[in-house]
Amino acid sequence: MFAASKIQRRAFTASARNLSKVTVLGAAGGIGQPLSLLLKLNPRVTELALYDIRGSPGVGADISHVNTKSSVKGYDASPEGLAAALKGSEVVLIPAGVPRKPGMTRDDLFNTNASIVRDLAKAAAKHSPEASLLIIANPVNSTVPIVAEVFKNAGVYNPKKLFGVTTLDVVRASRFVSEIKDTDPKDENITVVGGHSGVTIVPLFSQSSHPDLSSDAELVKRVQFGGDEVVKAKDGAGSATLSMAMAGARMADSVLRAAQGEKGVIEPTFVESPLYKDQGVDFFSSQVELGPNGVETIHPIGPVDAAEEKLIEACLGDLKKNIEKGVAFVAANP
Ligand code: NAD
Ligand code: LMR
Repeated sequence: MFAASKIQRRAFTASARNLSKVTVLGAAGGIGQPLSLLLKLNPRVTELALYDIRGSPGVGADISHVNTKSSVKGYDASPEGLAAALKGSEVVLIPAGVPRKPGMTRDDLFNTNASIVRDLAKAAAKHSPEASLLIIANPVNSTVPIVAEVFKNAGVYNPKKLFGVTTLDVVRASRFVSEIKDTDPKDENITVVGGHSGVTIVPLFSQSSHPDLSSDAELVKRVQFGGDEVVKAKDGAGSATLSMAMAGARMADSVLRAAQGEKGVIEPTFVESPLYKDQGVDFFSSQVELGPNGVETIHPIGPVDAAEEKLIEACLGDLKKNIEKGVAFVAANP
């Protein structure tokens, strides 16, 4: 009897430690809805908070009927709703913002999405300053620095907790390679570094089990412009949503697993990084080991071949401008 209650108490303590509130801002959108559904299926998420400027109570009610243990609430579109959605959150995902239409670059989204992300970051800095922030809204190369600047202005910036979500690039690379090589994508771990747009996306096939692929210009281009493939196929109805939801849910799960003590959790993600700081590039995506406090170790790029060296050079030029644009936006529009 005594032993049983001791075991019960221990079980309770363990689960109390693992209570994880996860918030999605932009939860009623093309990404937000399937992402929220996938998070509802994740047993590590104990409370799911959904916020959008329209439609989140409905999405919340719908998802709340899924028979997993977590609680779900869709909050009203109001400052109070946003504050309540964020309060006590451990992970905040931000897919709020407009998607591309054919012919647009991600940078063309800057004018609309910069202020959306800035305002949501202000709310997060106030109501969930210690959460891990996973930024999905494009252009990621600029929206991540925007969030950093907002958090700095609020005096709560922790670079270990700010992540640009570039998971979709590695998901694509792995799938595209598996199609060429007729392999299982789960065995194809392709490192992709840099940023998240066009030439700033740099797959490092020389480090994979198919080093020959680094000279496959068509494949490299397909990884760099995979997003355009979807934008074109959707023909004006937006960009990747379902594959992005899967990629965002994977990244959130990795952050939670590491927070709960799992070792060796590595994801590529766009973070404040020392790797190219000497060239004025303060944020860069590479393999990052996650831990209980967010970023644990930023892994170096590792050996690359001559073709990849050139890709990195092209990446750094664009990336620097994208980052500076985000920083300048917050300086001019705090
Ligand atoms: P969408 O238009 O379908 O959904 C966006 C949602 O954001 C809408 O429901 C809208 O109401 C909401 N929203 C707008 N302003 C808001 C605010 N201030 N607060 C809360 N919610 C707000 O778009 P989508 O297809 O879901 O794409 C969202 C963003 O994600 C786009 O910027 C897109 O480019 C980006 N994206 C990034 C990646 C990546 O790999 N990082 C992949 C795909 C898409
Ligand atoms: C993607 O890579 O699919 C996203 O960044 C959306 C886009 O605009 O391509």
